[in-house]
Amino acid sequence: MKTLVIVSHPNLTSSRINQAWVEALQKHDDLTIHQLYKAYPDETIDIAREQKLLEAHDRIIFQYPLYWYSTPPLLKKWFDVVLQYGWAYGPGGDNMQGKEIGAAISTYGSTASYQPGGANRFTIEEILRPIEALSHFISATYLPPFSFSDVSNVTDEQLEQSIIDYVNHIRSVTSVA
Ligand SMILES: Cc1cc2nc3c(=O)[nH]c(=O)nc-3n(C[C@H](O)[C@H](O)[C@H](O)COP(=O)(O)O)c2cc1C
Repeated sequence: MKTLVIVSHPNLTSSRINQAWVEALQKHDDLTIHQLYKAYPDETIDIAREQKLLEAHDRIIFQYPLYWYSTPPLLKKWFDVVLQYGWAYGPGGDNMQGKEIGAAISTYGSTASYQPGGANRFTIEEILRPIEALSHFISATYLPPFSFSDVSNVTDEQLEQSIIDYVNHIRSVTSVA
């Protein structure tokens, strides 16, 4: 099982959570960590390179801070340009078939706020439906997400624990379907 973590954070130098996660993941030689904003500072994505990376891995985790209940813009662009007709779907587009896709997100909102009736109205699982739907569309298996909430209030100890939990998640998560 080869795992690719695609990290999308527009400003990792000012990040606490995603930066800590990246530094920790980079110590694991069997994980490929690919930072989109670092690879493409002018936001011009090398589509062939990305497709090759995907072909070489079985499990793909999209790691990002939640931005307006969605992904940072470069990851949205990545979906648009990399998951092409004839490559990811449509005639001959079977390259993502059978691969596993998951999301790992950090949120400002608390766990309680991501509940029906909470400040953010919807659960994390509901907010991540677009990733789940695109996974289904390209015949990949969608994995349960990893999320870390209320990030402005987490202690250093909680951040350290999140790293342990995140690495365990990447290694052991299985599809519920
Ligand atoms: C443009 C923008 C939009 C954001 N939208 C949300 C949001 O919809 N929900 C939420 O819980 N947090 C939101 N946040 C907070 C980020 O998710 C939070 O700052 C991030 O997860 C912290 O991770 P970091 O330390 O790696 O930057 C937003 C932040 C920015 C800058």
